Amino acid sequence: MSIKYKAPRGTRDTLPDYSFKIQAIEELFRKTVRLYGFKEIRTPTFEHTELFLRTVGTTTDVVNKEMYTFLDKGKRSITLKPEGTAGVIRAVVENAIYNHGVPIKVYYISPCYRYEKPQAGRLRQFHQFGVELLAAKDPIAEAEVISLARDLFQKSGIINNISLDINSIGCENCRTQYNNEIKKYFKFHEKELCETCRERLNKNPLRIFDCKNINCQKIATGTKTILEFLCTDCLEHFENLKKYLKALNIEFVVNPRMVRGLDYYTKTVFEFIYKPDKGENLVLCGGGRYDNLVEDLGGLPLEALGFGIGIERLMLVLEKESILSKLKEKTCDLYIVNVGTNVETKVLLLCKILRAENFIVENDLVGKSVKAQMKYANKIKSKFVMVIGEEEITKGRALLKYMATGEQISLSIDQENFYKEFSKIYFSKIK
Ligand code: HAM
Repeated sequence: MSIKYKAPRGTRDTLPDYSFKIQAIEELFRKTVRLYGFKEIRTPTFEHTELFLRTVGTTTDVVNKEMYTFLDKGKRSITLKPEGTAGVIRAVVENAIYNHGVPIKVYYISPCYRYEKPQAGRLRQFHQFGVELLAAKDPIAEAEVISLARDLFQKSGIINNISLDINSIGCENCRTQYNNEIKKYFKFHEKELCETCRERLNKNPLRIFDCKNINCQKIATGTKTILEFLCTDCLEHFENLKKYLKALNIEFVVNPRMVRGLDYYTKTVFEFIYKPDKGENLVLCGGGRYDNLVEDLGGLPLEALGFGIGIERLMLVLEKESILSKLKEKTCDLYIVNVGTNVETKVLLLCKILRAENFIVENDLVGKSVKAQMKYANKIKSKFVMVIGEEEITKGRALLKYMATGEQISLSIDQENFYKEFSKIYFSKIK
């Protein structure tokens, strides 16, 4: 047999032995966001390309190099979402959710697509946990969403290796002045910049801080910082955020050259970065404020903010920190072995009775021998095993084997008494 098809580069299959681990982390995320009053929103996997040009920005790497864009059969330009925020804000505006009251607090778990060079923690199809909080002007809102993301890292057991970097990239006024300043600086170093940064210099010099080229990064460290250009309002906002974070005992580092890779941000930007004792740093969460986006997309002038966490990256870190290996999937409660002929109907009925009471029950579906069924029950680590043959059906009783000790206990398999007797034995053994 030769494998004819392989998954596309940068994508990954989630196999049954692993998916329960992702589900556990998703559940942790859902539980955490619920504590803060966020509700789920689901938006399409693809949107009109124009939405991402308008929001993420035409000078970003995401738009320029990484989008999966195609013409559909109606000749419309469609893009698989490279991130969650744009679609969510489009949906909020289109459905006028704000008419039902503000603030709006939504969360999502969504696939995203970016044509990047695949490597550890970087995929072409990945997933994000995200939250968006709308109609929230005060930096107390930043403190709230940062605290939420931090709770997730704390509860998942990796907080000791996580650093929170924050910065303010100001409003349009501060940024116009800063852009003029850095334009002069980078112009002076134009010849040393990579080709892309030379283009960025004319279109959007702030993007030069995003460049992965070491030389450009080195040059960028010589600029003044945006913090030196903040207007009174933006400065006060940033100082108040720091005050709230300190009050919540949340440690942070001010990184005045962090600009983030998407164009919609205003004022606060932040990242949670995994910094292991050995090995490379990994940005797990990126977020910030985007006060103009809702209005830009035709909605009310609502200030907003949020974050996105890469699920595969988080899983990678949890794996590295030996946290995933501690997660155990709930195993089968009872495996019913069937022996001989004409017993299947009874077995199916017994399974149905227990499943209706939320027990995990399995039985033979492929005609295995008794020995093979026993072996399978062991393999799936079933807590109890019960053999049903014609004799058991005639007597109306069977033996329930508790696999941990080998003890066998007789019980009724009558429709009326089976669940009662099974659950009594079950809960006497399993606490
Ligand atoms: P982002 O920083 O582009 O922000 O992505 C958020 C997170 O998604 C990253 O920190 C990373 O963990 C993960 N991620 C990004 N690209 C990849 C990839 N190719 N493979 C695996 N994981 C990846 C946003 O997307 C914003 N929408 C976040 C936000 C929400 N800002 C405000 N609200």
